[in-house]
Amino acid sequence: MAFLGFESKVFMAPMAGITDAPWRTILAACGAGNLISEMAAINAIQRKNPKSWQIANVKDEPYPVVVQLVGNNPELFADAAKLVTDLGAYSIDINMGCPVKKIVNNHAGSALMCDLPLAAQIIEATIKATPLKVSVKFRKGWDNEHINAVEFAKMCENSGASYITVHGRTRAQGYAGVADWNIIGEVKSAVKIPVVGNGDIDSPQKAEQMLQQYEVDGVMLGRAMLGNPWLLHRTHHYLQTGEILSEPNASQIRQMLLKHLHLLVNYYGEHSGMAISRKHIGWYVKSMYDAKRFREQYTKLNTLSAAQDLINEYFLRIEA
Ligand SMILES: Cc1cc2nc3c(=O)[nH]c(=O)nc-3n(C[C@H](O)[C@H](O)[C@H](O)COP(=O)(O)O)c2cc1C
Repeated sequence: MAFLGFESKVFMAPMAGITDAPWRTILAACGAGNLISEMAAINAIQRKNPKSWQIANVKDEPYPVVVQLVGNNPELFADAAKLVTDLGAYSIDINMGCPVKKIVNNHAGSALMCDLPLAAQIIEATIKATPLKVSVKFRKGWDNEHINAVEFAKMCENSGASYITVHGRTRAQGYAGVADWNIIGEVKSAVKIPVVGNGDIDSPQKAEQMLQQYEVDGVMLGRAMLGNPWLLHRTHHYLQTGEILSEPNASQIRQMLLKHLHLLVNYYGEHSGMAISRKHIGWYVKSMYDAKRFREQYTKLNTLSAAQDLINEYFLRIEA
């Protein structure tokens, strides 16, 4: 047990377009690690927009799922928190770190790092509306001239957040450059609530390094998980036992890929499932033999059966 009832110190990072129900099913099958949704917009949830509703509806999933909300209005956050509570969330995370223009221009995501009073109102309103834990995910600051993660963390704590996640990059950095782990350490020293560190963790050993060096309570893995769903459990297992589980072989990758593809098609239907599968397939095979040609062929396919045939044929050559 990690903290606040989470089964692991290792968290999947929320990623729009990636951390959907099929992805969580895959991760759960790999073993332990805390699971999260994609971000769901509060006003869209309130309107019962089908896509956002689908993101937030985790009722039928047999493991705890953190549901992440994004928006800028305290009352709408309260309404959305109530709905998400009914839709089976284990806890609610508030996105105050998204750098995307469309979100920031709407005064949401990382724009809230520039408006602490509104951010505090949002956290308080959300907490009031739900019995669930409410956490906040944010960045180092807006840009190099406005680094306020420590002040922001204290605001989150004073507003009642259960825990916080800090991504060690500014909004201006987006996902470029190296994540600053020192700021995560500074935040950890400044608050009493649990702190999860995020940014550039791509191996079990790196996760251990962040935990040991900065004494954070948990670690969050993002882009290194793309095409590598095994990494969450491998990291959890290493932290628990000191043992490094072996990387998957080609046959295991093929089986995972086929399973993922089936889940996507079942969940989204064949047309959308196939379209969404393309990026995942590309990540799974990215460093494999002749991957470029395989990806090009895969992109042209529209049916599950053709996709299965191509995957099997490609891996037959790899596994031979
Ligand atoms: C494609 C993509 C989508 C993302 N979507 C979200 C999101 O919906 N909510 C969020 O809080 N962060 C989002 N992030 C940020 C990640 O959660 C994480 O903070 C970031 O990738 C840094 O971690 P990493 O270096 O391990 O990738 C996204 C990142 C990527 C690459």
